[in-house]
Amino acid sequence: MTESWLERWQEGRTGWHESEGNASLRKHWTASGTRVLVPLCGKTQDLIWLERQGNDVTGVELSELAVRAFFDENEIAYSCVEGALTAYRANDRAITIYCGDYFSFSDGPFDAYYDRGALVALPADIRRSYVEHSRSLLNADATKLIISLEYDESIATGPPFSVPASEILEYWSELCRVDAYDDIENGPPKFRDAGLAMMLEVIWRYP
Ligand SMILES: C[S@@+](CC[C@H](N)C(=O)[O-])C[C@H]1O[C@@H](n2cnc3c(N)ncnc32)[C@H](O)[C@@H]1O
Repeated sequence: MTESWLERWQEGRTGWHESEGNASLRKHWTASGTRVLVPLCGKTQDLIWLERQGNDVTGVELSELAVRAFFDENEIAYSCVEGALTAYRANDRAITIYCGDYFSFSDGPFDAYYDRGALVALPADIRRSYVEHSRSLLNADATKLIISLEYDESIATGPPFSVPASEILEYWSELCRVDAYDDIENGPPKFRDAGLAMMLEVIWRYP
């Protein structure tokens, strides 16, 4: 499982990466002055956007190549601090990315949580333990923005996986569905090739 992600980064198969960051984050995020956790962060520009809103941002990412690419491509100087997971800490900005397996990350607690491309990247049998681990890292009343996908899995299969509303609410009963739109045009080409006509990007938020 983890090997396949490392291979994707090595081979440049990172079609999920949004060069301008995620538009729904910009539309729906409200928190500033918080310590934000961004699990399975890749090299997302969203880390920079969240920091510009006055947050102290922590990403966790398996691939060292992705972590280094984030800092190098954005010309952000950083220092490495060895630990259970190596921390790549921006020298002059409130951004840190821990490199390694998220399930071994334990540097909580956080007051805010942003998940895009993380829950939906994981197969169904891992999602529950992923959410339980995330919850263990968050304060009880933490702000949350979670972006999920919904599509007909009898036509196409993930990753990214379809995560139905019932499953999201089973994990996070406090969330409200605040927005949803068809994003098939930005979905993986394999989805369109399989004949999938609609893929909803669904935005969940608390509070
Ligand atoms: C679909 S990508 C999404 C990246 C990012 N959230 C974004 O929106 O661009 C999923 C990322 O999770 C990382 N990943 C997968 N399993 C992981 C794990 N167990 N621990 C940390 N990162 C992981 C992969 O390397 C990949 O960069």
